[in-house]
Amino acid sequence: MPQLAYVDGRITALRDATVHVEDRGLQFADALYEVAAVMNGELLDWEPHLARLRRNCAAIFIDFPMTDAALTAQAKRLVAANGHKDALLYLQLSRGVAKRDHSFPSAPRASLIMTVRRFDFAQRIGQQKTGVGVITVNDMRWQRVDMKTTGLLANVLAKQDAKAAGAFEAWMVSADGIVREGGSTNAYIVKDGAIITHPLSAHILPGIARATLLRLARDAQMTVIERPFSLDEALAADEALLTSTTAPLLPVVRIDGRPVGSGTPGPVAGRLAALVWDEIARQTGWRR
Ligand SMILES: Cc1ncc(COP(=O)(O)O)c(C=O)c1O
Repeated sequence: MPQLAYVDGRITALRDATVHVEDRGLQFADALYEVAAVMNGELLDWEPHLARLRRNCAAIFIDFPMTDAALTAQAKRLVAANGHKDALLYLQLSRGVAKRDHSFPSAPRASLIMTVRRFDFAQRIGQQKTGVGVITVNDMRWQRVDMKTTGLLANVLAKQDAKAAGAFEAWMVSADGIVREGGSTNAYIVKDGAIITHPLSAHILPGIARATLLRLARDAQMTVIERPFSLDEALAADEALLTSTTAPLLPVVRIDGRPVGSGTPGPVAGRLAALVWDEIARQTGWRR
């Protein structure tokens, strides 16, 4: 069965799906995106993804007239048409097509594209047992990374550095030594049983997996502290973790080649992972 994509209302074969050369997403990264997990054929945490997209539309003044119900129906239609039980839904909304000029066009019509790619979530179970390594890089991004825009060049370069170093992720560190987040994941440390993560601000993306993790941890009476932490603190932590849609929870066991705690996944990561997979099973019926 051919891979299918959605382009402004039409589902077509992925290989034939194209956008206009004057799409502002292409020329200015004047576009927003979301990546949602499809597990056991069901969209995970879809409402929070929609809510984040709507918030970002308002923040950058993209007028997207499609209702949430219509967008949900189109997304589900594409997921069903592609037929993968475990996949990632990619959704990108640009300000539309217009003659190249930085300021907004006078009558923009937002353009929406979506793709669905098969994705192996079960690989995360194995990685959870061994843990993963991260490297650190300077956070070179602009000052509104809370908005999920397609302007991801700094993240691309950071993640390429991680790949070249054989690491899973690159943690982006501010000029004053604060660990912000990973190139495509949120970052946490554990000290004396407390889960510590950067507070929501313009400096991090408000991850959907982050929100889920913090809710589950608090519901389980675990201590969660939302405050900035430094790279030095991370190196002296008992445990470290990361989360994202594509990696619901992974223990971080090495930072720049140095072991975190014992250098193996710790008990807090194990407990959190169990909570996260139970929540996924509750929402989607997905089982390891
Ligand atoms: C910079 C950044 N931080 C965090 C995340 C995790 O966000 P989510 O949990 O919504 O996938 C992402 C996801 O792509 C990201 O790009």
